[in-house]
Parts: sequence; C-alpha cells; structure tokens
Amino acid sequence: MLGNFSYCNPTKLYFGEDSLEALRTELPKYGENVVLIYGGGSIKKNGIYDAVVRILQESGKRVAEIAGVMPNPTVDKLYEGVAVARAHGADLLLAVGGGSVCDYAKAVSVSVHCDEDPWEKYYIRFEEPSCETLPVGCVLTMVGTGSEMNAGAVITNPHTHQKIGHVFADEKIMPRFAILNPRYTMTLPQYQMVAGIYDIFNHICEQYFSGDDDNTSDYLSEGLMRSVIHASRIASRDPQDYEARSNLMWSATWALNTLLSRGKSTDWMVHMLGQAVGAYTDATHGMTLAAVSLPYYRHILPYGVAKFKRFAIQVWGVDPAGKDDEQVAREGLAAMEAWMRELGLVMDISKLGATADMVEGIADATILLPGGYKTLDRAEVVEILKESL
Ligand code: NZQ
Ligand code: ZN
Repeated sequence: MLGNFSYCNPTKLYFGEDSLEALRTELPKYGENVVLIYGGGSIKKNGIYDAVVRILQESGKRVAEIAGVMPNPTVDKLYEGVAVARAHGADLLLAVGGGSVCDYAKAVSVSVHCDEDPWEKYYIRFEEPSCETLPVGCVLTMVGTGSEMNAGAVITNPHTHQKIGHVFADEKIMPRFAILNPRYTMTLPQYQMVAGIYDIFNHICEQYFSGDDDNTSDYLSEGLMRSVIHASRIASRDPQDYEARSNLMWSATWALNTLLSRGKSTDWMVHMLGQAVGAYTDATHGMTLAAVSLPYYRHILPYGVAKFKRFAIQVWGVDPAGKDDEQVAREGLAAMEAWMRELGLVMDISKLGATADMVEGIADATILLPGGYKTLDRAEVVEILKESL
C-alpha cells in the first residue's frame, strides 16, 4: 500500500428485507423537522413512499417534501430545494430514491446555511462548506452510484452544459445512515438496472486501472468485479432473483465508499467523459459510461499492459498460455465487451443523443484528470469521443 492515508466511513448501513424498520431507531436521533426528498414518482407507485411516510408520522415528525428530483439533478432544482429546507427549518434531509436523490440531498445539505451561490462555491471553485451542514439519511431504491455511503454529489448545470461531481472531503457529508432493501430495487426498469450494474463495475475499474505496485485494494476490486459479473447475469435473466439483487446492492455500496481507492492514485476518466456526454444529452449515467468505456480502455491499454493482462486473467478467466501480454490484455477487453452486449448496455454515444457536431463541446466539458495509465490531452479526448459515436 503506497502513500499515507486515512480511512473513516461513518455511514451506518441497514441491509435486508426488513431494513426500513431501522428508520424508527434512526429518526429519534434528529430534530422534529424532516424534509422528505424523492424523484419523479416511482416510490408512490411501488408503495415505498407510503411505508416511509407512515414511519415518519408515527415518529412524530413534521414533514415537508421536495418531490420531482430528476435523474441528473439540476442546479435550478438545487436552488428550489434549498428554499424548501430553509423555510421548513430542516433538521434532517431524508432521501428516498436512487443516486440522483441521494446526491441532491447532500447538495442541499451543504447549501442550506451557505450564504454564497452553491454552484459557484462547490462546483466551480470546488470549495468545502464553511457553514453548518444538515444530516442526510437515505433509503435507497436504485443500485449503482454508491451515493448511499459516500460524500459525492453530482449536479448538472444545463445552461452551461456542465455536469460536475464534488466529492466532499468531510465525512460528515456522507449519509448518516442508509437503508438498503434489495426488494426495493426490483421495480426498476431493466434499462436502469443494467445501467446501474455497469456503473458499479466502472467505479471498480476507475480505481483498479492505476499503479503498478502490489496493492490489497486491487485484490478487493477483482473479487467485487467477479461478484458483479456473476450476479448481473442472474439478475438480467431473472430480475426478481433476491440473491443476485442483494449481491449487486452490497457490491455497489462497497465499490464506491472510499475503500477501494486507499493507497491508489485512481483514474476516473471514463466518468469525466461520461459526465460530459451527460451534460449534453441528459442520458442515463451508467449508459454514458458504457458508451465511452471501450474506446477509452483500448486507447490507454498500451500504457498499462501489465494491469490489463491481470484484469483479463483474474476477472475474465482468459487463458494466457502461448499468448503475448498485449494479446491477453486485449482478450480481457473483448470478454468485457461481450458481457456488456449480453446485458444490453448502450455502446455508442450517438444512441444516447450525442451527434458529431457536439464532439468539440463535449471535449471542452471533459475535465482532464491525471492518475490513470495515460493522462489524456484534448486531442485524445476528441479521438475517443469520435470512436464512441
Ligand atoms: O425519479 P423516479 O420516479 O424515482 O425514477 C427513477 C429515475 O427515473 C428510477 N427509479 C429509481 N428507483 C426506482 C426507480 N424506478 C422504479 N423502481 C425503483 N425502485 O430510476 C431512474 C434513475 O434514477 P437515478 O437516481 O437518476 O439513477 P442513479 O442511481 O444511477 O443516479 C444517477 C446520478 O448519480 C450520479 C450520476 O451522475 C447521476 O447524476 N452519480 C453519483 C455518484 C456519487 N454520489 O458518488 C457517483 C456516480 O458515478 C454518479 O456520477
Ligand atoms: Zn458512476
């Protein structure tokens, strides 16, 4: 393990079919005023809303609501939510939904008592909160982002074509508790389920494809990737398979709760490319990642052959006998591509609404990060985007 690091994750997890009952023990820890935050209405159709509201009422809470948090929540919606939370004197923000709702709650949390513009402060200047922040609790209904146990909050500014994630440094921004009931994910449309599965997988890849030291985090990543691949095949055939859905839920949480990145530099360029595509198309997050991944990984493979070879053997079971390193490495990516097609992921950004004349703008919106096997320049970003069309 290279470098010096700390590890602290204060989110308390409650997992399983009866986990919502834990709300009764969590709610008394906070004040009376709760803001219930949710998305476009799926929780009203599948009964989760009623179950949560019943417990809030029985716990004696005064509840205000922020409804209609959209996938890829926008800065305008953030301003709206801040006003609701201020007017209600919120003591707790309770997010019930997927990554968008959880991220949004965190963005509201750091903005309610902030007297500056939160978009400018947190997403342009990348500052940390200098004000009181509100506790966030989370009842997760969609698996993928890991937002239930991390301090990330991605917000989109459609006016400027920017989709930016801020991973807050302070663990206080992580949800105080998260309720993970795999049954809640079973009403997800197949498209969202597989997008979430690829999001999990890619979070692991982003932390795996860096460094050349012998690092425990990489072994953890390989185990998680194998579990995700295995469970995804079962879940895509039978979305009602509790065992597979529960394994996916648990893997998603551990894929992005800061554990796997310890002692690593990490890459994150697939996310930077995917987020820029998302800023232009408002497409589903996991699909934007799927559509840019293979052109990106094929581009950087020559700079990290040893790791791509290890990925091929350890994750995809490629037999290296009689092959040179690069051939083994490429067979790993071919196996990954076959799996992605099997799941039905979107493999081209054109199918997500991106057009050739958007490429330059998407390249401008792509934040270039160091840390992977090759730091891209803008020309390479354009090349990768064109190959992803
Ligand atoms: O809005 P409703 O009606 O609830 O419908 C949602 C939404 O349309 C639906 N859904 C969720 N649970 C459901 C359900 N439909 C039926 N049954 C259920 N049980 O699914 C749709 C997508 O939900 P969303 O929350 O947008 O998906 P996801 O969890 O993938 O979150 C995406 C957001 O998270 C950000 C993404 O950029 C994007 O903005 N990310 C956050 C990260 C973090 N905090 O660390 C990291 C990720 O890489 C990602 O960037
Ligand atoms: Zn992601």
